[in-house]
Amino acid sequence: MENVVVRPCALAEHVDEALAVQAKAFGLGPEEVAIRRQIVLRHLACAGARAWAAHHTVDGRMVGFVYGLPNDRGHWWSSVVQPYLRAQDNDGWLDDSFVITELHVLPDFQARGIGRRLITEITDTATEPRSILSAIDGESPARHLYRTLGYRDLARPVHFPSAPRPYAVMGAHLPLPRPPA
Ligand SMILES: CC(C)(COP(=O)(O)OP(=O)(O)OC[C@H]1O[C@@H](n2cnc3c(N)ncnc32)[C@H](O)[C@@H]1OP(=O)(O)O)[C@@H](O)C(=O)NCCC(=O)NCCS
Repeated sequence: MENVVVRPCALAEHVDEALAVQAKAFGLGPEEVAIRRQIVLRHLACAGARAWAAHHTVDGRMVGFVYGLPNDRGHWWSSVVQPYLRAQDNDGWLDDSFVITELHVLPDFQARGIGRRLITEITDTATEPRSILSAIDGESPARHLYRTLGYRDLARPVHFPSAPRPYAVMGAHLPLPRPPA
């Protein structure tokens, strides 16, 4: 975490910088970035939406971000995952739950504890007793991180329209655990 500061961020004002981070971390092309831009701005306008970002203390650039919002069963994401959760008797996780919508860290800054810090700090401010998210199904640094934070699989595989790969929906009770000292 040397040379990096993590703090709340008015992400709507920095949406292009955030999407540039996501494009590098997650591999988005320009067309996907343009589509995501509208979606992110719509999410950030919702009640309770908030974001945290990691910035380099020397040059000031954004190196990671997370944003999320209280789940709303009327939102697209919730309506897609709901039948999968219901089939596993996990439908109740959609109520009183804080959704982690995006979490990304630039490749050169990964594996330094920034992702863990971002998701822990944003969920610490949630008033909901639990958090849910979706991640590409399979083993990945993201899935590893979420598991170590107490997120467990609620449904998988989950198919989002137009997404080429299946996802897993995961949920954790809040607050997220701290790593052992
Ligand atoms: C997922 C992501 C945000 C994690 O951020 P990060 O800053 O690297 O995470 P941390 O440094 O806090 O590490 C968290 C855990 O993941 C592990 N990890 C991080 N990068 C890893 C890598 N490349 N390979 C294997 N494990 C890795 C760390 O070892 C750590 O585990 P540990 O605490 O048991 O040692 C980051 O890897 C990323 O941006 N990935 C690409 C985009 C993505 O998949 N986003 C999530 C979408 S659901």
